[in-house]
Amino acid sequence: MKRTARTLLHYIIITSVLVHSLEPLTSFVVGSGLAGLYSYLFNSCSEKNIKFNGTGLEEALQQKLFGQHIATHVIRKAVTGFMNNENPKKPLVLSLHGWTGTGKNYVSQLIAESVYREGMKSEFVHLFTATAHFSHVDYLNEYKRNLQQWIKGNVTRCSRSMFIFDEMDKMHPGLIDSIKPFLDFYDNLDGVSYRNAIFVFLSNAGGEKLVEVALNFWREGKEREEIKLKDLEEVLSLSVFNNKNSGLWHTSLIDKNLVDFFVPFLPLEYKHVLQCGRVELANKGHEPNEIAVEAMVREMSFFPQEERIFSSKGCKGIASRLDYYL
Ligand SMILES: *[C@@H]1O[C@H](CO)[C@@H](O)[C@H](O)[C@H]1NC(C)=O
Repeated sequence: MKRTARTLLHYIIITSVLVHSLEPLTSFVVGSGLAGLYSYLFNSCSEKNIKFNGTGLEEALQQKLFGQHIATHVIRKAVTGFMNNENPKKPLVLSLHGWTGTGKNYVSQLIAESVYREGMKSEFVHLFTATAHFSHVDYLNEYKRNLQQWIKGNVTRCSRSMFIFDEMDKMHPGLIDSIKPFLDFYDNLDGVSYRNAIFVFLSNAGGEKLVEVALNFWREGKEREEIKLKDLEEVLSLSVFNNKNSGLWHTSLIDKNLVDFFVPFLPLEYKHVLQCGRVELANKGHEPNEIAVEAMVREMSFFPQEERIFSSKGCKGIASRLDYYL
């Protein structure tokens, strides 16, 4: 029995020497013994599975996210800065805002892919959706307990954990309050440090205001790309504050500066939806087919009613919609 175990261990070591380069392996073995070796090979909260690819993130944002010049810039700066900082003072907290289908979910996926080898499938990435995971007010206390335990448990296991909260505007304020301590500038809480973790909040809060600004620029004949972050930041924080249903309002997330970056997503125009359509077509393994893509986008709904500038659903649901036109 003992011999088998030893043979197995030899086998593992030899294979890993072959598979990985010798240097990181020996440093792990010398540094932390067998436990380190085991964790390096299997457990994977290590450089093998978590390694930031800044160039990859930049390329993905440039090539796959359409019509979001501000979000592209802010996300790249925020994530790259955080990941390259060896001693962050707090976890990275991003709040992504905008109309449906403008790319908020997609961007969180791109961030996950730039940090974790397995992207959204990584066991260190956790996605919570308000209406799916925390829908019954009666269970609020249980939700709070669970959520706090999950965050603590997962960060204890791997400090570089990522938590994505979708539909943040539908989250109970009490639940948001319960995660606040994790977002703050603490050295540690009960012996656990959260400073390497990443929190991403997604919501439609402020979406209408962003549409208003984009529409005004359009009506004044200005380029969309002329819209600056500062044109939106104030609008966004005010509307988030003033909207009692937005969830964030009830909490002191903003007050206490726990959110590092508010990231605005602009409503998408006809040409952006076309771009999404082309990418989706290629994803499905089809040859380029402008006729099909244009036919699909032409039949989608746009607003305001008269000018028809912005897509009501953005690029949401395009994958299945496209099938109909092929
Ligand atoms: C990690 O989070 C998940 C939810 O995403 C939860 O089911 C699991 O129990 C947590 N793990 C620990 C160790 O707390």
